[in-house]
Amino acid sequence: MEQEILTLQSSAKELLASVEDTAQLEEFRIRYLGRKGQFSSLMKGLAKVSKEDKPRLGQMANSAKKEMEALFVVKQQTLAATNNTTASHGTLDLTLPGRRPEKGKLHPVTQIMNEVCSIFESLGFSVAEGPDVEHDHYNFEALNIPAHHPARDMHDTFYISDSILLRTHTSPMQARIMETQQPPLRVIAPGKVYRCDSDITHTPMFHQVEGFLVDRDVSFADLKGVLTVFTQKMFKKDLPLRFRPSFFPFTEPSAEVDIACVICEGKGCRVCKKTGWLEILGAGMIDPEVFKMVGYNPEKYSGFAFGLGIERIAMLKYGIDDIRLYYENDLRFLSQF
Ligand code: DAH
Repeated sequence: MEQEILTLQSSAKELLASVEDTAQLEEFRIRYLGRKGQFSSLMKGLAKVSKEDKPRLGQMANSAKKEMEALFVVKQQTLAATNNTTASHGTLDLTLPGRRPEKGKLHPVTQIMNEVCSIFESLGFSVAEGPDVEHDHYNFEALNIPAHHPARDMHDTFYISDSILLRTHTSPMQARIMETQQPPLRVIAPGKVYRCDSDITHTPMFHQVEGFLVDRDVSFADLKGVLTVFTQKMFKKDLPLRFRPSFFPFTEPSAEVDIACVICEGKGCRVCKKTGWLEILGAGMIDPEVFKMVGYNPEKYSGFAFGLGIERIAMLKYGIDDIRLYYENDLRFLSQF
């Protein structure tokens, strides 16, 4: 029995010394130190030795096992330490180029919005912002759209209560500004607007810029002049404009303004649906009724107003035919601008 203990101990030491990785170490543990391992069977064998020899042999077997357990722990730690150092040396390649932080960009809609604003600022317009959550009064009543007026149907309004809504256009800013300031006025009002509508050319939230100018003797020719300069600067091309008669309750006369197609320059293509023209904004001379509601004398002052959709301008400028792309937040799309 004594010999058996010594042999087991020396074979265990030999094997442990040859262990090179954690898998081999685990094999060693199972073979020698596990519940069904060789030291366990050695202990079981002690039952058969004589009473006199038992204490001595028992102690000997026990201390042999303890020693192996201690050596096992030492080996375990050595392996862990060498693993760590090879990991850090092995994966850190100091010659690799560094990772550059990715640069963010403004959203294309924000870029166009900023561009539109700066063009009008260069023409002497000041910028004013108003609330997205608006009173029915400013969104409709003050713009000559009383309750039950059929023009309300065009707006697909999100109502919050009977008298509070999400503004359907930026035109309420006309009433808000004129109510508190006296002419001469040259203002643009950019911002978000909301309509319950969604398809390839409509999203429930989109952006508009409202513009208006009020002074003595303002004429339709002034409106045409300002819009011509704007479109030239915006599309970097000298494209003709076309005014089509239209109706808005807050302007009289009203017009829808088309620009010669920015893609085909009037020849006819997919974007302009072969017409050669693209509708870019609504405009007109401010209705005397609107002036009366804010306390201006329509005999003394006249003015023009216009409203344009930013997403629409961005779609035309970049030749994009689905407005929803702007709001899917796909960086592959957004980072092109
Ligand atoms: N508010 C109109 C809309 O959202 C656009 C518009 C048309 C604004 C004519 C104007 C205007 O200022 O004169 O459909």
